[in-house]
Amino acid sequence: MDKTEKIWLDGKLVNWEDAKVHVLAHALNYGTGLFEGIRVYQTPKGPAVFRLKDHVRRLVDGCKIMGFDLEFGGKTYTQKDIEESIKDTIRANENVDYVKPCIFLSGEEVGLNPVGVSTSMAITCIHMGTYLGKAGNGAKVIVSSWQRPDNLCGPAGAKVNGAYVASCLAKREAVRQGANEAVMLNSVGRVAECTGENIFIYRHGKIYTPSTGESILEGITRDSIIQVARDFGYEVIETEVTRFQLVSADEVWMTGTAAEVVPVTMVDGKMIGDGKAGEVAQKIHSKFHDIVEGKAPEYDKWLDYVN
Ligand SMILES: Cc1ncc(COP(=O)(O)O)c(C=O)c1O
Repeated sequence: MDKTEKIWLDGKLVNWEDAKVHVLAHALNYGTGLFEGIRVYQTPKGPAVFRLKDHVRRLVDGCKIMGFDLEFGGKTYTQKDIEESIKDTIRANENVDYVKPCIFLSGEEVGLNPVGVSTSMAITCIHMGTYLGKAGNGAKVIVSSWQRPDNLCGPAGAKVNGAYVASCLAKREAVRQGANEAVMLNSVGRVAECTGENIFIYRHGKIYTPSTGESILEGITRDSIIQVARDFGYEVIETEVTRFQLVSADEVWMTGTAAEVVPVTMVDGKMIGDGKAGEVAQKIHSKFHDIVEGKAPEYDKWLDYVN
């Protein structure tokens, strides 16, 4: 990947090459970290972060359940301080479109006891472009043999680094089979989400998406799309979604910060609808882009201007 200029590490903006941790950092060995993925868009009023407060809130909520202190480099941070540090990092880098803050147990420790292990925060900004590349116009997905870890395996609503091993296995399975993404089922066999995206279906004139009790990440794009679809007048139902409903849907799409809104045209080799990006997905996709690019004043509350 391309390097950017500066990474924020424990209160200091350091050069990309100097953002280092020890090989015995607890998080490196046991996955004890939390991260976020946040988009920055160019708007007529300059760069804007999409739903910054909601992303940082999810990160801070994750720290609560993981028992992480918000103390980095000897200073205690509030949610607002983290938001400001993210904006400082964006300003210190040119033309970035994606920010990845990560709070992790950086203390050198062998053994699983995380109590008393020191925390660090790193904020990295990159040029991501489109996450799913050409598949953005119509993705092929498989249903993975790997399960979405449920709430008994860890807090499904938090972005815990170690939990992403399941996503990486599922993604590898998808790519090896020539697909772009994998849908993961939950522990009772219902549709949960994709490796890094939530999922929606449009079936018999209504929009459905797995509810938060289905062991999904409470996606911020998911929440935005639910609101946008309801504002368009669609009925959106957060419920249980079966594999049968997924495959027999008229339309399917994925939502996520990195992927944005991506129509799905094939599931396990079976065509969705007529095999082209659906009308509803396209309408929502187009509105989403107006919103993030600052062209929809009614949703301006979701943009946090950097300058
Ligand atoms: C597992 C998983 N599901 C869903 C999402 C989508 O969430 P959001 O829209 O907040 O980026 C992500 C990305 O963060 C994810 O990692």
